[in-house]
Amino acid sequence: MCPPLINDVWVYGGDDDTIFRLVTLGSIELQKQGYTRIGAENVVGPMPPFGGIIKNADDLWKIFAFVRSKYDGDPAYKFGAPPGQ
Ligand code: HEM
Repeated sequence: MCPPLINDVWVYGGDDDTIFRLVTLGSIELQKQGYTRIGAENVVGPMPPFGGIIKNADDLWKIFAFVRSKYDGDPAYKFGAPPGQ
């Protein structure tokens, strides 16, 4: 149902702001805010919003720590744009 989190691809970007919006708003609302897919994965579909389910920002940061712990690629790209971009 979800693109893999264990590779080196960020569909919309791996920075805090982008994944905060993706997970809380879902991908349809994210795209309405002007975000577009910058990375291609084997799953192309909408992600549902989770902002109403995650209890507080602390829980959300823990989820991001988990997501980033699964990232498997260039360490310089773990939090977003690769060096020089
Ligand atoms: C709290 C729960 C969830 C978290 C933290 C989460 C996290 C993420 C992250 C970080 C991405 C981007 C992946 C990347 O850039 O490679 C993503 C994308 C996506 N997720 Fe989730 N996800 C959650 C729940 C779900 C659920 C339940 C579904 C399906 C029912 C889902 C479906 C998707 C889809 C389809 C995408 C791709 C969106 C697009 O390309 O526009 N996610 N998710």
